[in-house]
Amino acid sequence: MKPGPHLIRHFLQFKDFRAEEYAYLFERATIIKKRFKNYEKYTPLVDRTLAMVFEKASTRTRVSFEAGMYQLGGSVVNLTTADSQLGRAEPIEDSARVISRMVDIVMIRTFEQAKIEAFAAHSRVPVINGLTNEYHPCQIMADVFTYIEHRGSLQGKVVAWVGDGNNMANTWLQAADILGFTLHVSTPSGYEINPTVAGVSNAQCVKVFKNPLDACQGAHLVTTDVWTSMGFEAENEARKAAFADWCVDQEMMQAAQSDALFMHCLPAHRGEEVMAEVIDGPQSVVWDEAENRMHVQKALMEYLLIGRVGS
Ligand code: CP
Ligand code: NVA
Repeated sequence: MKPGPHLIRHFLQFKDFRAEEYAYLFERATIIKKRFKNYEKYTPLVDRTLAMVFEKASTRTRVSFEAGMYQLGGSVVNLTTADSQLGRAEPIEDSARVISRMVDIVMIRTFEQAKIEAFAAHSRVPVINGLTNEYHPCQIMADVFTYIEHRGSLQGKVVAWVGDGNNMANTWLQAADILGFTLHVSTPSGYEINPTVAGVSNAQCVKVFKNPLDACQGAHLVTTDVWTSMGFEAENEARKAAFADWCVDQEMMQAAQSDALFMHCLPAHRGEEVMAEVIDGPQSVVWDEAENRMHVQKALMEYLLIGRVGS
């Protein structure tokens, strides 16, 4: 690890950053994306190493962090539970002490938020949440950036969340609180959100609806996620029954604003949480959303490692 000129910051939850920092990160992501599209080399992280720790499966998070770090001039080490001592009960605190002496930044995808918090508390370098049971902040950063690219600021607008009160829902709640928009939420009973547990200070930013169609009414963005998140596979059959009416369809999209967008963090299950005609239809921006993971995370790693830079 090379000591940086600034204090260590972690990105463990969406609320770890202020609105003004997101504005900066989105500006940087725009510049970094443009350079990438123009094949312009931009390598501010030469000699820096990212360790990625995956305790759950991934396609987008793995590719976006790994490709992004190489593009910035750095290198990457990938660890999984199966091929490291993490799977053989080495304490997370010891893993943090060791890994953070050898690399400059760490991204972790794991189960309980408490695990990543424990890692960060014993890390000498910045730690990024690449998904926990409770939160998925990199994804929501990409989603907000994607909305801004297509429609401008989300401030004062309405986002409809249809489905599970899961890690994505919790992170949308924090984003609504920090960025000043309203989140309409509809979940089946037994799968509700809890704004206090999700870490939301202003309950005004969330409105709960029994019926998913009502939640979509007037929304500027409609979004959903799988019915069964990683780690909850044993509940799959019960969830399939409970969530049957929480499938985003054309009727819901028609209840939203006429220029509403559809997003899904992916992977998606057509015919379950979303109909094919919605996710593959003209209002869907899911492929931009997936690509933008890489651009916002490049901006995030640049910010955590070297602080603010001029354009
Ligand atoms: N959206 C997302 O995080 O995808 P992966 O699980 O493929 O990383
Ligand atoms: N809620 C999902 C998101 C996957 C990217 C999960 O945790 O499995």
